[in-house]
Amino acid sequence: MATKRQTPVLVLAFGLLICTAAADASKFVRPPSRPLVTTLHSKADSHPQQVHISAVGMDGMAISYVTEDKTVPSLVEYGRAPGKYSHSATGESTSYKFFFYSSGKIHYVRIGPLEPTTVYYYRCGGAGDEFSFKTPPAALPVEFVVIGDLGQTEWTAATLAQVNRSDYDMLLLPGDLPYADMHQPRWDSFGRFVEPYASRRAWMVTEGNHEIESLPVVGPRPFLAYDARWRMPYGESSSSSNLYYSFDVAGGSVHVLMLGSYAEFGPSSDQRRWLEADLAKVDRSRTPWLVVLLHAPWYNTNSAHQGEGEEMRKALEELLYRARVDIVFAGHVHAYERFKRIYDNAADPCGPLHVTIGDGGNREGLADNFQRQHKTAPLSEFREASFGHGRLRVVNGTHARWSWHRNDDSFSVLRDDVWVESLSRSSSCNPPRGPSPPSAAAAWSDEL
Ligand SMILES: [Fe+2]
Repeated sequence: MATKRQTPVLVLAFGLLICTAAADASKFVRPPSRPLVTTLHSKADSHPQQVHISAVGMDGMAISYVTEDKTVPSLVEYGRAPGKYSHSATGESTSYKFFFYSSGKIHYVRIGPLEPTTVYYYRCGGAGDEFSFKTPPAALPVEFVVIGDLGQTEWTAATLAQVNRSDYDMLLLPGDLPYADMHQPRWDSFGRFVEPYASRRAWMVTEGNHEIESLPVVGPRPFLAYDARWRMPYGESSSSSNLYYSFDVAGGSVHVLMLGSYAEFGPSSDQRRWLEADLAKVDRSRTPWLVVLLHAPWYNTNSAHQGEGEEMRKALEELLYRARVDIVFAGHVHAYERFKRIYDNAADPCGPLHVTIGDGGNREGLADNFQRQHKTAPLSEFREASFGHGRLRVVNGTHARWSWHRNDDSFSVLRDDVWVESLSRSSSCNPPRGPSPPSAAAAWSDEL
């Protein structure tokens, strides 16, 4: 305990600490955009490329890869030792045309059952390079990397290199992947660009506006390339669309919902019906964490994309609130912003934490105009227009640590760091435990 004599010294030291921190922050010179990185394919047409993986169910993995040679089989061989493939699985393939562009053969192979927290070595198409991945854990703790609006610039390369410096279990991406914007070879370049990362850990993605790639009348249909190349396990959660789905992680301790900002979400939409049914199935005594990702943020004090998520917020926010969703991650705005727990534009201890993390490193640059007079500005606890990535470490059934790491090129600087308590255990946000009068129980189940 500080004595009276010590107190002024401590105050002075604390003041110096603040000044030092402020000085350090002010030293940061916000970098300009950096050029695109084009990642070429220089091997044979039969050589598998653009390898990426996504988790399917609790013990499966889907392997995606592309070959220019259409005769290469959809085959993945795998095992627990390098070069020793004790198992194999065959899958399916697709391809698409986009005006004058014809895609390669896009393979999709599901493998499993797999052991949790285990490294598997694998090879695609019966030849080519050996890759390895680590499966997610079967129980908590689990660590997610969250990174939006990725693109394929030199900044993206720096961000991904920093992501890779510290281990994690799964990557969550709330939309805007390659910024191909109809130029289809950029999808191929992006697939090669992220392969060193996306072939090692499950990448779970949802769509952004840059994935739509459709023109009125002339087409093609929206999300043609995205659906073909980044197929997610939507059927496992009874979704009929690759644009929204859900999955369990860590033995069901975390339920992640990937929503579609660019799919219908109105009262009679399939997405809304699916979302209601999906949330109704969640047992919060078994699943203490509910996490949502979507592209266009519902809360945003940046001038960029101001109000674009409002229609979806009005349509779906109440559902998430009543289900006591813990965190909502969004992208779209090329900056970082974290709000207090919030519901219907007001601070609410039972509302989700809203975080915008659209700062992966895309070619459009940063959105640095935050509005001080915005009506939700008092609820915005941290905002900064810099590239970076986030990490959500779910430690146990009650606590998770959320951190945002600014990308200072060769350094990763921890800028925001908060502990989050699960709403599932909050007595003030849930009905009292133990027997309830029938009427009260009915009222609660109605709410859910
Ligand atoms: Fe976007």
